[in-house]
Amino acid sequence: MRKLRVGVVGCGGIANGKHLPAMKKNGNFEIVAFCDLIEERAQKAKEEYGTEDAGVYTDYRELLKEDVEAVYVLTPNSSHAPVSIAALEAGKHVMCEKPMAKTYAEAKAMVETAERTGKILTIGYQNRYRTDSIYLKKACEAGELGDIYYARAHAVRRRAVPTWGVFLDEEKQGGGPLIDIGTHALDLTLWMMNNYEPEMVTGSVYRKLADQTETGNAWGDWDPNVFTVEDSAFGFIKMKNGATIHLEASWALNSLDVREAQTTLCGTKAGADMADGLRINRVNHGRQCVEKPDLKAGGVAFYDGKEEKGSDVEQRVFYNAVVNGEPLTVEPRQAMVVTQILEAVYESGRTGKTIYF
Ligand SMILES: NC(=O)c1ccc[n+]([C@@H]2O[C@H](COP(=O)([O-])OP(=O)(O)OC[C@H]3O[C@@H](n4cnc5c(N)ncnc54)[C@H](O)[C@@H]3O)[C@@H](O)[C@H]2O)c1
Repeated sequence: MRKLRVGVVGCGGIANGKHLPAMKKNGNFEIVAFCDLIEERAQKAKEEYGTEDAGVYTDYRELLKEDVEAVYVLTPNSSHAPVSIAALEAGKHVMCEKPMAKTYAEAKAMVETAERTGKILTIGYQNRYRTDSIYLKKACEAGELGDIYYARAHAVRRRAVPTWGVFLDEEKQGGGPLIDIGTHALDLTLWMMNNYEPEMVTGSVYRKLADQTETGNAWGDWDPNVFTVEDSAFGFIKMKNGATIHLEASWALNSLDVREAQTTLCGTKAGADMADGLRINRVNHGRQCVEKPDLKAGGVAFYDGKEEKGSDVEQRVFYNAVVNGEPLTVEPRQAMVVTQILEAVYESGRTGKTIYF
């Protein structure tokens, strides 16, 4: 297999925590250019993951002049659209981190640019590639749940506010937990339902705990003075076919029902949730049944089976799309609808009105 030459824009948490190690493990990537506003970060990533002569930049426009086929956009949310669009215009394929963009208008411009230039654009929704997600998607596609008419998209943390980087900065991120982790849960839910036609959204957006100072936060106390985004948000989404989705997202909430990047689906034939591993519930022979698929391979003592991590599958799918013309799993138009719905939850929360599409 030939190597794919790529450049990386943004060498922070998600670059070092997901993409760079996964590309290295994959072995078919050649990372030949690194860019970060903080030059030392780009330099450090080059030393750990790059080719010997890889370029190091602080301006992504310089990186785009490099001979790379694909660009990874791993910067804060506000730059996803401008950097991705510039990369597509420069003839590069793009892997952009989630959320696709701050606004629907930006997401739409990204999709239109990809379609006009004929370049591949995908978004880093790695939860779709988890073993439980793949199993549930196959069950949905086989019609095992019937018509899915009610769903819940879960992104609830009790106290886990990300205090590094610019996550608390409304300007840079476009919002808090809703756009940050609500985006994963909603993406997973729409994908399972295979339903991308929203009709209306009502939302509530809260900043209720952000001024508290003894926080019990997973990543240390947050600074209320820089906490300019919501700490929780909730959406009631009605789809054109009559289906309903309840979306819940929080970084801080007084709740013990903590679930993230999960979906609950209720269909006419069966239901499913991920609350205690993947569970499919239905009625069989007049009795309520719960099916818990064994998602580990094998059944061998002291050996859990070979399992590919979602983040590894993500790289393989992107490589195969670019190099072998295989289909994407995360289509940009799907991610665009996620952005459209999230924007409507924010708008509804701000205006107190229901948003109709
Ligand atoms: N898929 C996931 O589950 C997941 C998890 C965490 C973060 N993310 C996403 O990844 C993105 C980055 O988050 P992070 O945690 O890595 O943040 P981070 O702050 O750790 O890293 C971002 C890096 O981008 C650099 N940067 C900012 N603007 C830039 C620009 N214009 N050009 C070049 N470099 C620039 C910063 O200096 C920083 O090093 C966000 O959009 C976030 O939503 C996704």
